[in-house]
Amino acid sequence: MNSTNPMLSSGLNPDPTDLLGNGTINFSLLKKLVGKSITAVHQFDKELVCELCKFAALLECRKIRTYDILKGQIVITAFFEPSTRTRLSFESAVLRLDGRVISIPEGARNTGVAKGESLSDIGEMFNAYGDAVVIRHTETEALAEISKNLRVPLINAGNGSGEHPTQALADWFAILKWKPQMQSAQLPEEEQIHLGILGSPGSMRTVNSFLRMSLLFKQNIRKITVVSELANPLGEELSDLLEQSGIVFEITDNINNVLSDLDVVYMNSIAFLGDSYRSLDSSFKLNTESELKKDAVVLHPLARLDELDSTLDETDHNLYFTQAHGAVFVRQALFIAILDCFDRIPYQDRKETKIEYELQTI
Ligand code: CP
Repeated sequence: MNSTNPMLSSGLNPDPTDLLGNGTINFSLLKKLVGKSITAVHQFDKELVCELCKFAALLECRKIRTYDILKGQIVITAFFEPSTRTRLSFESAVLRLDGRVISIPEGARNTGVAKGESLSDIGEMFNAYGDAVVIRHTETEALAEISKNLRVPLINAGNGSGEHPTQALADWFAILKWKPQMQSAQLPEEEQIHLGILGSPGSMRTVNSFLRMSLLFKQNIRKITVVSELANPLGEELSDLLEQSGIVFEITDNINNVLSDLDVVYMNSIAFLGDSYRSLDSSFKLNTESELKKDAVVLHPLARLDELDSTLDETDHNLYFTQAHGAVFVRQALFIAILDCFDRIPYQDRKETKIEYELQTI
């Protein structure tokens, strides 16, 4: 553990300033998010993901002072399913920007749902209590239900086997810090990556959202390989999306066929299916004995079971701790955009920083 910066953990810690490049952030693009709910990856294009991640990098660098930016804003986090990272990183993001949080862990026990109240009625109440709502639920349809009467922005923090779009932003924030040139329009073929996904995107929301966001970067992905125990790990919609993308794509049930060629390995095994957690694809295990390419990085949304051995934690393959820690800054960037708090970025800090990021467009 680094003694001066507790955010720096074991594994690879890419420097966020590399992602900032010339330091210009297109805030007018980020302004498109003002007042918007974030429910699914299809709301994003590549440029928006890149600008959000650059803004997150700026926040991570502490090149701007973050005090007071969300002062006066109240965010409700309502979790109807357990979480370590998502709820705490959303709440940390708000609190570190001096906003306030109303936190509802165990929503099914701690709201009127326990008495039979509908989610749509709860949504109506949230309008009076907060400026934005972050919700996780075991049911894919819960978002639509709570949105019926909700008039403040909603952020999907994972809905059943549906999507987890802000996790995908955290995933790509880690990848872009590791390899900022992935932002380019088209890299030479030798610099494009082979992306391996160990898991079943059709059944797992994190893998689903990650795959969808990865397709935005298709010009810089040489190939995608899905490694799954299931015969059809994608389902119809994702299969169609992949086909339309034109990306070179394969499915295999044998990790040894591809591991030594992968530049990025994204893995997950825990999925909430039906009414309980299940472990899918956990027969694929990675440890320091695995034939990973020398410079390959491993991403995992966590929590992990034994598919990702802790012996990898100390290696430079470990991008998963950076991925988890960076989620705070991605979520800060999202809140600043959704709640339209750009003008709270103190002017003197814009001058103090050496980064000439674009603010005239605000
Ligand atoms: N990545 C993720 O969704 O983790 P939690 O379930 O701990 O929130």
